[in-house]
Amino acid sequence: MEILVTGGLGYIGSHTVVELLNNGFDVVIVDDLSNTERFVLNNIEEITGRKPAFYPFDLKRRDLLRQVFEAHNIQGCINFAAYKAVGESQVIPLDYYENNLFSLINILQEFRERGLSNFIFSSSCTVYGQADHMPIDENTPQKPAESTYGKTKQMGEEILQDFARAYHRKVSLLRYFNPIGAHPSGKLGELPIGVPNNLVPYVMQTAAGIREKLNIWGNDYDTPDGTPVRDYIYVVDLAKAHVAALQKLLDSGEGTQVDIYNLGTGKGSSVLEVVQAFEKANGVKVPYQICERRAGDITIAYANADKAERELGWKSDTPLEEALRTVWQWQKYLEKRKKETV
Ligand code: UFG
Repeated sequence: MEILVTGGLGYIGSHTVVELLNNGFDVVIVDDLSNTERFVLNNIEEITGRKPAFYPFDLKRRDLLRQVFEAHNIQGCINFAAYKAVGESQVIPLDYYENNLFSLINILQEFRERGLSNFIFSSSCTVYGQADHMPIDENTPQKPAESTYGKTKQMGEEILQDFARAYHRKVSLLRYFNPIGAHPSGKLGELPIGVPNNLVPYVMQTAAGIREKLNIWGNDYDTPDGTPVRDYIYVVDLAKAHVAALQKLLDSGEGTQVDIYNLGTGKGSSVLEVVQAFEKANGVKVPYQICERRAGDITIAYANADKAERELGWKSDTPLEEALRTVWQWQKYLEKRKKETV
């Protein structure tokens, strides 16, 4: 069965493609390589022994997308293709709306015209903003997103709700908490393009000496050690949730279905705890300094992911330290690769 994976060479996308291939699905990747590199495709093949079909183009090109649907018997889609930098989205909002929403609508139009169903959307816990109570379950009230990035996730969810309702299709909205880590093979991970915004890639580069110090954005939050708390979920666990969510859609009958799942571990860790766990896991030092708060950061977010466990039989139980060991292994791979390609 062929599954379209947009952004399939990106961070979460590439890990999910591996899990799909390992579970017997055929995969068709569309990725414009705007935030990744072609070698990721070779590494997917090395890991799985299987080669997905690959089309390098921008999903705003409806004409090219149509050709992909004509060439393949696509039975579902996992849509990862999106811009994702919160800060950048505030500076170039129109590009975010155009890229994240036009591409989504183009795929859905193809789905509608061809009578296709089974669509999985990468959403985010950003839809909850700073929730009033922890842990956050799927019924926790949403707050208006502060960033344009967050708004594209909220709007994407609404577009999919309408799509499912009006055309009687099945969709799954997956709200990720904070994905971290790399593939245990050491051959897939988050590519460091530019200065990292997210905590773990920055920690990785600081430990490697690429950055002088980690800036910890504030230690005066109302949390046990004063630094913000998040739910860091191992990317391979997250990838497996996509296969489980897809299987559920495929196994259920025709008609409207909107599944919504929080994907997290259920456990919160502070910034300082992540730094300490990284040092312990890898026997390295991560120099840091405490700075002013970063605009827009919330204090605390961690998931109640019981619904995914109940309905998908899925649970993320990879310990933080183990996930952080794969990050260091990935850094070593990147260094080796850089030496070989110079
Ligand atoms: N942090 C630092 N220093 C850094 C980077 C991050 O101290 O250099 C801190 C942040 O202040 C925050 C925590 O580490 O407290 C996590 O920050 P990230 O940027 O890694 O993650 P966020 O929780 O801010 O953002 C993530 C995703 C977004 C998503 C959001 C939803 O990156 O895509 O969760 O809450 F919108």
